[in-house]
Amino acid sequence: MRVLVTGGAGFIGSHVVEALAARGHEPVVFDVREDPGADVRDAEAVGRALAGVDAVCHQAAMVGLGSGFADAAGYVSHNDLGTAVLLAAMAEAGVGRLVLAGSMVVYGEGRYECPRHGVVRPGPRAVADLDAGRFEPPCPVCGADLAPGLVGEDAPVDPRNVYATTKLAQEHLAAAWARCAGGSAVALRYHNVYGPGMPRDTPYAGVASFFRSALARGEAPRVFEDGRQRRDFVHVRDVAAANVVALEAEAAPGVLTAYNTGSGDPHTVGEMARALAAAYGGPRPVVTGEYRLGDVRHITADSSRLRDGLGWKPEVGFAEGMAEFARAGMRGA
Ligand SMILES: NC(=O)c1ccc[n+]([C@@H]2O[C@H](COP(=O)([O-])OP(=O)(O)OC[C@H]3O[C@@H](n4cnc5c(N)ncnc54)[C@H](O)[C@@H]3O)[C@@H](O)[C@H]2O)c1
Ligand SMILES: [Zn+2]
Repeated sequence: MRVLVTGGAGFIGSHVVEALAARGHEPVVFDVREDPGADVRDAEAVGRALAGVDAVCHQAAMVGLGSGFADAAGYVSHNDLGTAVLLAAMAEAGVGRLVLAGSMVVYGEGRYECPRHGVVRPGPRAVADLDAGRFEPPCPVCGADLAPGLVGEDAPVDPRNVYATTKLAQEHLAAAWARCAGGSAVALRYHNVYGPGMPRDTPYAGVASFFRSALARGEAPRVFEDGRQRRDFVHVRDVAAANVVALEAEAAPGVLTAYNTGSGDPHTVGEMARALAAAYGGPRPVVTGEYRLGDVRHITADSSRLRDGLGWKPEVGFAEGMAEFARAGMRGA
């Protein structure tokens, strides 16, 4: 299969390229980082790149939480205009298979249960609560403590920041394309991806990268909130393998199917910092109580649809993956 990998020079995209080649496919990288002419917002360039292509694996995006609302137009441009241009070119060229890099950020706060009210959906956390160190979102009905659970694909979406909004719009665009063009679309909603080649810390990077970069500078990882926020850290090679199985699988035409892509083994951010610092042999993490508006408290996936439906399973365990990541190279900005 000849596969156009947009964002194929990025962190995840470059692992997808490697995994596709290892399976005997022919990946074609389309990434503005590698070639200034390879911008997904450029219809002509995309049209040329689609010649002879069987499927598109769309990883290109502006990522992270950014540095404030000033970035909003950039996110919308790269992520949503870019996806629209790409899909229109696919419809024009008759390329009917898409695998999209989705994200768990579409869910907002994860799934919570109140002992009295069952499954509830807490809204964004109040600044006053965060300032006072009250990081757990309370039950929106009675204010009781909530138990976090695993989010399934059918959970309601609730994007909480500009990036999340653009990742959700990408899925809606892909669903509209599948309906209109009869294509098949798969969205892999990645959880926190980490591993070799992860970009060094910028406002656009993930938390594992912040900690790893601090250790490389000889500093202690600075853990925000109280360190007990839960995430699903999934290794980049497992995410690349999920892309390969999604590209190879029979996919239903005319619809978008979403799959959570997580390790199934949630950890707190504090645990991750400790595992990484220990494996690196660096200073112990410090818990700072700082917070970022737009962050959610807990978000952990139920990835059983991907395991059962596509036969994928994660191969890299948490301890092993963090030990490798502590020694692995990172990518400069
Ligand atoms: N890293 C994570 O934890 C994570 C989690 C959920 C979803 N994702 C998604 O995975 C995908 C890949 O993310 P990543 O972490 O590898 O980020 P990355 O920044 O390393 O890679 C993105 C690549 O896209 C390219 N790109 C950006 N805009 C482009 C454009 N207009 N035209 C062509 N290329 C463009 C960049 O040059 C870069 O190489 C993104 O869609 C991201 O939203 C990542
Ligand atoms: Zn309640």
